[in-house]
Parts: sequence; structure tokens; C-alpha cells
Amino acid sequence: MRNINGERLWASLEALGRIGAYQDEGSGLTGVRRLALTAEDGEGRRHVVEQMKAAGLAVTVDRIGNVYGRRAGREDALEPVMSGSHLDSVATAGRFDGCLGVLGALEVVKTLNDEGTVTRRPLVVAFFSEEEGARFGTDMLGSAVATGRLSLETAYGLTDRAGKTVKDELSAIGFLGEGAELLPAPHAYVECHIEQGPLLKAAGMDVGVVTGVQAISWMELTLTGKSAHAGTTPMELRVDPGVVASRIQLHLREMVRSGRYGGDLRATMGVTRFEPGLVNVVPNKVVATVDLRHPFDAVLKRAEAELHRFFEAAAAEEKVTLAWRQTARTPDVSFSARVQEAVAAAAQARGLKHQRIVSGAGHDCQELARLCRAGMVFIPGEYDGISHNPREYSTPKQCTDGVNVLCDVLVALADE
Ligand code: GLV
Ligand code: MN
Ligand code: MN
Repeated sequence: MRNINGERLWASLEALGRIGAYQDEGSGLTGVRRLALTAEDGEGRRHVVEQMKAAGLAVTVDRIGNVYGRRAGREDALEPVMSGSHLDSVATAGRFDGCLGVLGALEVVKTLNDEGTVTRRPLVVAFFSEEEGARFGTDMLGSAVATGRLSLETAYGLTDRAGKTVKDELSAIGFLGEGAELLPAPHAYVECHIEQGPLLKAAGMDVGVVTGVQAISWMELTLTGKSAHAGTTPMELRVDPGVVASRIQLHLREMVRSGRYGGDLRATMGVTRFEPGLVNVVPNKVVATVDLRHPFDAVLKRAEAELHRFFEAAAAEEKVTLAWRQTARTPDVSFSARVQEAVAAAAQARGLKHQRIVSGAGHDCQELARLCRAGMVFIPGEYDGISHNPREYSTPKQCTDGVNVLCDVLVALADE
């Protein structure tokens, strides 16, 4: 049985985790802040590109900044098997989200290099731009462009809070590549990732065989009212958009608790920006975001419809002007049954406990699933699987187990 080098993998996770490291005030822990297309992301990208080149990969960058490192196969004209993930992070991240998938795929290549194995098909290690959506507002951006869900023009025009565009920021970090953005269908795509939730650890599992990803809906609401003095303005004269934001927040929780959508609806208001944002001023404007998710698209659609009705009515009642836009929307995605079987078989052969699991988080793999047979290997996380947080942690053994399974599946697919 082939084994990847777990110590080398761990050292590479630590080295990448030092790029964009920050001191988290709340926890005192060191976290990672590598928002897409910032200088830190650029540094992380260059660091990984160097490793790709050192491992003998031919590196190309496409017009949306996705990076592909190609290892030749024995029959090099065949469609490649691809593996990877993302290097960008949310502003309060740990070291594993995305990085495990990229460095894990690279570790598979290094392992094959060490033993001098050449697979029948080429292998491609990929990392995709702005998977998180944390800076430009749309998740899986690079992989969505590569697979044709979003146009390059749409992606280029997205802006961050400071008004900087994706295109300018790609150029600023030196990753506005020249490769065609539309990816020819690979033979298969497999991604290793941390679960980012509590299920696998609680069930005593080593590996999750991912069946698919739930549907995701992101909205941005702009609520406009009238600024006024907090002490002198009678309550009945106020037009307070903060009240509408709060009512929506509470209604989201009521929707979840009501059971109207089964037990699996997730609803989060992650951003509320009050203007002018002063203790003694009634706000005139609130920008708020909603992240709504459900394993079934049809159920998510019902929840979206209820939410729309509610926020229109609440805004009207409070005489607040409401504008909203959909910033991201993906249906639920099912992964290839054959890739799932391959992941389960590899885990079984290694004596690793495994179970099927639906991903609560979005992943580049769900975009690639439109092009080819695709699937994922999850590993458990410690501390209730907390993620998007500096406490995010999986052990060296958990990472090694996951990448060993990834390696088995990639080699099997690449020899098809
Ligand atoms: C990506 O991490 C997401 O699911 O929001
Ligand atoms: Mn991720
Ligand atoms: Mn993430």
C-alpha cells in the first residue's frame, strides 16, 4: 500500500499557515487572514507555485487567476485527473480550509515522484480564485468561471468594499494570467477538505465520503431610513432601518425553529453595517447579508420565498426603503456515485472508519461536478469541527489519512 509522507504534508500546512498569519484578539490564537487577491493571497500563491515547480509540475495561470500544475502521464494526450481546492481564506480563518486540498494534492504528486511512478493519465493540481466569496461577495468564483457558470466579464466587474475590482486586484498580485478560463473537462476531479462541522468527529469517523453539497443562497440587503438624534427624536417619528434588520434576523431564526423546512435549514446574518454607526444617532442605512442553506434546492426555494415576503412586509411596515440583490446562488449538487465508491473502498482498504456525509460548506468541487465525475474526501475536525476560525484544527493523523485516501483514488482514476 502506498503511503504519502504525513510529516512533509504537515510541515507544508504549517509553512503556508504562516503566510497571512494574524493574532486573534478574542482567542489569543494565531489565525490566517488571506483574503482573495490581497498581497497575502499573492504571497501564498507564489509560495505554492514554487512548490509546484519544485515538484516538476508545469504551471499555468488562467484569466481568472486559477492556477494549474500539470504532471505528465504515460498517455499524455488523455484527459487529466484533477485535484485541488483554494488558498484564499475568510478574514478569521485557520490553516486547513482549502489548503489541505491543494497541499494534499501536491503531496500526492511528491509521493509519486519519490517512487518514480507515472500514472497513465496526467495529474493536475489546481487552486481556484476567491473560493470563499469573503472579499468580492460571490463564492467559488474562480471555479465557477472555469466551468462556465459565471462569465469572465461578470467576475472581473465584481468589487470589494473599497470598490476595487477583481480584474485590477488579479493584476496587482501578478495573477492575471493568459490561459483560457474555460476548463476542458478533466477525466475526474477529487478534492480533500476538512469537514468544517462536528459530525464525523462525533461519530468517531476517520473519513467522510461526501455525497454532495447543499444548496446555498446569499443575499445583500440595503435598508434606508432617516438619520436622527437618538435622545430627542420621538420613537413614532423614526424611520429606523436597524429595526428592520433586527426583525429579519429574528424571523430567520423563527423559520429555522418552526420546522416548516424540516430540521436542516441554516440561516445566518453575518454582516450588519450601520451608517453612520454612532451610539447616539438613529441609523440612516443598514447593509445586511443573509446566508441561507438547505440540502434540497426545492426546500431552499420555499424558504427564500418566505424570507422575501417577510422582508418586503417588514420594510413597508417600518417605512424603510429596501433594495436587495442575490450575491450568490447554487443548487444542491450530487457527487459521482463511482467516486464515492472509490473513496469508500480506499478508506475500507486502509481500515479507516468512514460514513457518507452531505457537505454544509460550499466547495470548488461542486463546480467541477458539472464537467466531470467529481467527489470529495472529508476529514474530521477537532473542537466540534469549528472552522472559519483560528481554532480550526485537524490532527496530523487525520490529515494524513485523508490524503492517503485521496492518493489512492487519484491514482486509480489516473490509471483508468
Ligand atoms: C465556504 O466556505 C462556504 O461554505 O461559505
Ligand atoms: Mn474551503
Ligand atoms: Mn471556507
